[in-house]
Amino acid sequence: MGKLIGAREWETLYHGWNWADVVKDMGFVRDDGNTMVAQPHLNLDPKKMWTLDHLRRCPPLAFPERHSQRDERRRARRFRRRLQQAGPRRPTGAGRLLSQLRWVRPAPFPGRTHAGADRHRRKAGDGRKKHHVRFEPVGIEIEVDEDKTILRAAAEQGIMLMHGCKEGQCAACKSFLLDGDDVEHDRYSTFALPDYEKEEGFTLLCRAHAYEDLTIELLNYDEEMIKSGLPIQEAAVEVISKEYVTHDLVHLVVKLLDPTSSLKFFPGQYVDFAVPDRQATRSFSMANTPGRNEGLLEFVIKIYPDGLFSTFLHEEVAIGDRLDITGPFGVFTLRDAPQSDLLFLGGGAGMAPILSLLRSMAERGIERKATFYYGARRRKDLCFEKELSALADILPSFRYVPALSEPDENDGWDGETGLITDVVRRLENDLGRADAYVCGPPPMVEAALELLPTLGVADKRIFYDKFTTTGDADEQ
Ligand SMILES: Cc1cc2nc3c(=O)[nH]c(=O)nc-3n(C[C@H](O)[C@H](O)[C@H](O)COP(=O)(O)OP(=O)(O)OC[C@H]3O[C@@H](n4cnc5c(N)ncnc54)[C@H](O)[C@@H]3O)c2cc1C
Ligand code: FES
Repeated sequence: MGKLIGAREWETLYHGWNWADVVKDMGFVRDDGNTMVAQPHLNLDPKKMWTLDHLRRCPPLAFPERHSQRDERRRARRFRRRLQQAGPRRPTGAGRLLSQLRWVRPAPFPGRTHAGADRHRRKAGDGRKKHHVRFEPVGIEIEVDEDKTILRAAAEQGIMLMHGCKEGQCAACKSFLLDGDDVEHDRYSTFALPDYEKEEGFTLLCRAHAYEDLTIELLNYDEEMIKSGLPIQEAAVEVISKEYVTHDLVHLVVKLLDPTSSLKFFPGQYVDFAVPDRQATRSFSMANTPGRNEGLLEFVIKIYPDGLFSTFLHEEVAIGDRLDITGPFGVFTLRDAPQSDLLFLGGGAGMAPILSLLRSMAERGIERKATFYYGARRRKDLCFEKELSALADILPSFRYVPALSEPDENDGWDGETGLITDVVRRLENDLGRADAYVCGPPPMVEAALELLPTLGVADKRIFYDKFTTTGDADEQ
């Protein structure tokens, strides 16, 4: 336990790891699974222990210098704000002190100055429209137009940053401004970015526009995926078929209108559909694979009674209609880890990207031991049953386990029952060798994120897409 206290070499060693994985790796996990570790700074007071659940909620470990850099940054921000509030009655010597603060705010890109806050020049049309944004600790630099969000600009340049809703609501893209202040946010929810965090320097990349050169610390990133992104494209598609596969799930197939083009994507990724006549988009994951019927894209879309896109799809979209899409986005893709077993856990329309991953495994002959747990309410909510059962013939180590949470007595159901996470808890007791892929409605994904580590899945090996909704952001 003493290893956790004092010198910070271990921090460098475990850089980028989740705290829960660090303590597991260090052997500070009790055999009974109720792992508790002392808070390092509390000097082993047994009354003040962290559970693994606490640790999982902490941001991943950064290099030691990152901590002091952040602290300095916070101090500098507070000081600058106090000076701004003091206004014309600024204390004597404030200018000198401000200039001393340059050491916490060095020009990040040699040869360039901070374009910072020169809004007037910009609006007059002679200012810079592009700025350089550097991501740490990965050392990637991109150019960002002022009218694009940083997340979008990164995706266009093939850089896959962690994200979820892209609407400022889920906090998956939250990052920290290490250098540079001149950032403006589109509307976002203060649940995702509370005011005090914004004051400290946190930002939501899916809502942030850069108005000067910035250095941003990514709090959450996947080293395997970050540079694997395919540049995003805009494309027009024609509806080829629209079929109900359950009472509220539509299997939509579209074809790229330009016969010479193809939209490259990795199985598990998604595209954004524009909602016609509205400044809105909705994300939908491809259910097919890039190799199968090139030029065609398949989706499984849930119809919500008052849903903006889904009502439009249900009531208006007909075969032959044109729709506009942008993509691909997302990092819910199969990681190359041949020694690991695979656990897929899905519910509702979460079927789509998992189907894509399974179909691609079948095409590529990936015979890793794999189980797909799919949760539905009643028998009438199950879909693609035949295909999933047939996959077991192609993939000998594949098992499909559907479960009903509210089976009807007329269903004649003799399969698993209960919430899908409870079924996994019941049937699996050692997932220490497994990679888990979770996809579906947010409550199901959150329950799975709580459960899987208790069954042994390493936090870093849980990959998920939360189908977050697009309500109204409550701020900005
Ligand atoms: C990365 C990603 C991938 C996605 N992939 C898919 C996919 O493959 N298939 C798919 O069907 N959806 C998918 N979604 C969700 C999809 O983008 C829309 O949010 C969803 O279809 C609702 O859009 P809407 O315009 O019909 O409803 P909205 O107008 O956004 O919402 C209308 C009403 O429906 C409710 N509602 C909306 N979504 C949900 C929900 N998930 N659970 C409960 N209530 C809800 C809202 O609370 C609201 O009251 C994905 C989302 C993300 C972030
Ligand atoms: S992706 Fe930015 S808040 Fe959800």
